[in-house]
Amino acid sequence: MIEVKHIYKDFVSPKKYPGLKGAIKGLFSTEKVVKRAVEDISFNIEKGEIVGYIGSNGAGKSTTIKMMTGILNPTKGECLVNGLNPSKNRRKNAKNIGVVFGQRTQLWWDLPLSESFTILKEIYNVSDEDYEKRMEFLNKVLELQDFFDKPVRTLSLGQRMRADLGAALLHNPKVLYLDEPTIGLDLIVKDNIRNAIKEINEKYQTTVILTTHDIEDIEELCSRIIIIDEGKKIYDGSLQKLKDTYGTKRKVEMEVKQSDKVNKAKLAGLLHISENDFQMELDKTNNVLSIIFDKSMLQIPQILSAVMEMSEVSDIQIQETELAEIVKEIYSHGVA
Ligand SMILES: Nc1ncnc2c1ncn2[C@@H]1O[C@H](COP(=O)(O)OP(=O)(O)OP(=O)(O)O)[C@@H](O)[C@H]1O
Ligand SMILES: [Mg+2]
Repeated sequence: MIEVKHIYKDFVSPKKYPGLKGAIKGLFSTEKVVKRAVEDISFNIEKGEIVGYIGSNGAGKSTTIKMMTGILNPTKGECLVNGLNPSKNRRKNAKNIGVVFGQRTQLWWDLPLSESFTILKEIYNVSDEDYEKRMEFLNKVLELQDFFDKPVRTLSLGQRMRADLGAALLHNPKVLYLDEPTIGLDLIVKDNIRNAIKEINEKYQTTVILTTHDIEDIEELCSRIIIIDEGKKIYDGSLQKLKDTYGTKRKVEMEVKQSDKVNKAKLAGLLHISENDFQMELDKTNNVLSIIFDKSMLQIPQILSAVMEMSEVSDIQIQETELAEIVKEIYSHGVA
């Protein structure tokens, strides 16, 4: 459905100089700076996949989405959506895609929502019959009827986001691009939006590309994720593989009665490893000792018995590293 082949995007802007003098100098200067926002990214996405496109702020996610929707032209490379080059066939491509940018609405601010939908029906040439069927489905999954007659500007953020998603889906697009669709929403609306996405994907085999900073969106929706960093693709694969490969760390928390007797050097000695091989934090006021370790290197019983040589242990809790931790680690150090 989507083929992205070695795309690059450079933004060229006039060079800026500091201060007022600099601003004036800048007016007459012809010097340019080039910002490479996307560098040599390739991937293929099959029909019906839900792919999470993630990376830290400024990584180049929105820029990639804009190239896939045809809003921006790649500096180099090519992308094809359902066989079309989106920036060369913008109108044809528009029939195949739906787009939601969570940060701003695509709807007509002053019009009642119902009229926005009527306009979109005309723009996309949706027949009366299809419109009815579609609205029935959208009402069911997004509950638009509660605010269908209200002007868009009076909608709450959660209502607006449901409205935006509904609007993007009115013409039953083959591909749905969602750029931070759950930003700023409460848990219930987030859940509602996620369920709607799932249902649409299952019922119509809609291909979904989703950018988000919400790890739960990813866990709930995406079987595959692509991670980009500084414009480059650094990971492409299943969520499970990411967890297996990078989620080798575990955290164990213990309540220790004699916390004064616990220290890192001693523990390392008892475990016959170096102090650099694990992380340890000791909260002496609450008597809580937490240790983060690599599960290929140490095992819980070993740690427990070593700690018990220093202090009595009255409680223990074990946690798998969460996806959020893994992603944070990858953002800050790249993929090893
Ligand atoms: N029109 C533009 N002109 C110049 N630079 C731009 C332009 N659009 C984006 N950039 C730069 O390109 C880089 C990638 O931006 P992009 O918006 O794609 O990031 P993002 O991954 O979507 O980040 P976020 O998570 O913050 O939304 C940033 O450094 C940004 O400043
Ligand atoms: Mg963005």
